[in-house]
Amino acid sequence: MKITVVGAGAVGATCADNIARRELAEEVVLLDIKDGLSEGKALDMLQASTLLDCDVKITGSSNNYELTANSDVVVITSGIPRKPGMTREDLIGTNANIVKGVTENILKHSPDAIFVIISNPMDTMTYLALKSSGLPKNRIIGLGGILDSARFKTYLSLALKCSPNDLQGVVIGGHGDTTMIPLTRLATYSGVPVSHFLDAETLQKVAADTMVGGATLTKLIGTSAWYAPGAAGAALVESIVRDQKRVIPCCVYLEGEYGQSDICLGVPVVIGRNGWERIVDFELNDEEQAAFNKSADAVRNMNDILKTL
Ligand code: LMR
Repeated sequence: MKITVVGAGAVGATCADNIARRELAEEVVLLDIKDGLSEGKALDMLQASTLLDCDVKITGSSNNYELTANSDVVVITSGIPRKPGMTREDLIGTNANIVKGVTENILKHSPDAIFVIISNPMDTMTYLALKSSGLPKNRIIGLGGILDSARFKTYLSLALKCSPNDLQGVVIGGHGDTTMIPLTRLATYSGVPVSHFLDAETLQKVAADTMVGGATLTKLIGTSAWYAPGAAGAALVESIVRDQKRVIPCCVYLEGEYGQSDICLGVPVVIGRNGWERIVDFELNDEEQAAFNKSADAVRNMNDILKTL
């Protein structure tokens, strides 16, 4: 198994590091446009691996796509991160061309790869990667819901004063401050609806904190987050390469599912060796469906901007 991570910034490097530590592949390639950056980080990880009991070949590549040849999975994190006060959508002008170029270059050398898109605005970058590559829809997966759900479970566990491991919580919709939908109705604590333990006001605050989870970190750090995004990327890759068939909320191409078509948006999907294999219908109630439709409208407006770039 060979995995390439494109972009050796904080998210890409953290993702590659998590992938290597979990030994998800025999070979991990970290590629970046900036001379020396990926080689340096890859060498650092290789040295760390001698202390971590993991045995993975980690290679850095300064924009040499030949080194990525025959990758099974490619994670794209390229582009600029947001700064405090910005939305993810503000990045579209810069990141669209970068993601399109990276996808084309990767495909020349790894025509069978499964793509995981992390670059923002993620829903639109996933749609762009799908449309510009012409790949089958199951091979393009946008990372948003698994990260947003991790934040949802974090805030739920803080409110409940419990272990996040006893929680189930899913966020669907877009990966934007106003477009994501934490499904509070379906969240459970050891199988019991969380509404049994938390009042409506607390649940509303958990949902609101989740939605601005990334923005809160951006404000605190001065740039966007990397530990949770990198770990989320590795968890998604793990379900692919180990064919775990986990149900993970991911951004995938919809053709009528959840009432939407010709859009990439976050829904629960089964993730395995072939990429995303099947969409799971959570049977939204009217309020949740209305929120999903509103989220789709906002993402579709963003996708329309692609035509003007
Ligand atoms: C995140 O959610 O951490 C990423 O999408 C980065 C960001 O801008 O918030």
